[in-house]
Amino acid sequence: MKKMRLGKTDVFLPVIGLGTWEMGGGISPDPSNDKESIRAIVRAVELGMTHIDTAEYYGAGHTEELVGKALKEIDRDKVFLTSKVWPNHLKIKDMLKSVEGSLKRLGTDHLDLYLIHWPPEDISITEAIKNINTVLERGYTRYIGVSNFSISQLKEAMEASKNPIVCDQVRYNIEDREIEKAGLLDFCQKNGISVVAYSPLNRMGISITASKLHKIAKERNLTPAQIALAWLVKKGVFSIPKAISEKHLVENAKAGDIELTEEEMKFLE
Ligand SMILES: NC(=O)c1ccc[n+]([C@@H]2O[C@H](COP(=O)([O-])OP(=O)(O)OC[C@H]3O[C@@H](n4cnc5c(N)ncnc54)[C@H](OP(=O)(O)O)[C@@H]3O)[C@@H](O)[C@H]2O)c1
Repeated sequence: MKKMRLGKTDVFLPVIGLGTWEMGGGISPDPSNDKESIRAIVRAVELGMTHIDTAEYYGAGHTEELVGKALKEIDRDKVFLTSKVWPNHLKIKDMLKSVEGSLKRLGTDHLDLYLIHWPPEDISITEAIKNINTVLERGYTRYIGVSNFSISQLKEAMEASKNPIVCDQVRYNIEDREIEKAGLLDFCQKNGISVVAYSPLNRMGISITASKLHKIAKERNLTPAQIALAWLVKKGVFSIPKAISEKHLVENAKAGDIELTEEEMKFLE
């Protein structure tokens, strides 16, 4: 599994990690697939996908509980654990309550990365960033970042932050190129901020480019999903596909070692 530097830190993370949205529920808890979810998280780490992405919002906290259960079966230090604070919890009192709740559910004393899940609605970016800096300075997390921030929001966040903003987690996949059009990918790459691509498989709704993905996949004896992930690797971003099935987990981990040629990239463009 290829690794890449996270922001300007000394941390090198696997290019492919694991997303956990819909493990243990969507906007409310759903315990019907708990066993499979825990197994998938443990398996992902075994396969080298040690960057686990979760959020207090997922399953209204139940997803973090499942990640916590999986962590009991894994060496905590092997995992790079990311969680996110929901935008109505960005005032300092609420944010401290949120991070403490996340840590309790996750059964750990620190996060590796804490993200503001969406730009704030009822307080300024400057205040929210000041508060997430406090969370870091109190030792709850090693690094901080943002999610779904535009260039202008990111600039404001960078200006307000005493500690580096190490990433912007945004929607990006071979079919959804919005961050390229907006110049966000370029901006992040020039400023040493990692892009973490969510929905890297377009929630497996990849269709428009399917025939091209299929062609390359067939030529290389791989799957279209693996080509879609390898495309993101070549773009220099991290991906966090969500997968529960053993087949998908194994495929995704292998995608972290696929090198697409410049010709294949051009064809896929
Ligand atoms: N920051 C944000 O606002 C935000 C928003 C959305 C998502 N996220 C994060 O990003 C993660 C990933 O995004 P996502 O869950 O929206 O979508 P995704 O990863 O693009 O797609 C997940 C779907 O793809 C399937 N899949 C996984 N690997 C596959 C493979 N090799 N071949 C075929 N199908 C495969 C999964 O099936 P199985 O599960 O059945 O294996 C699942 O149905 C989330 O889980 C979450 O952690 C963050």
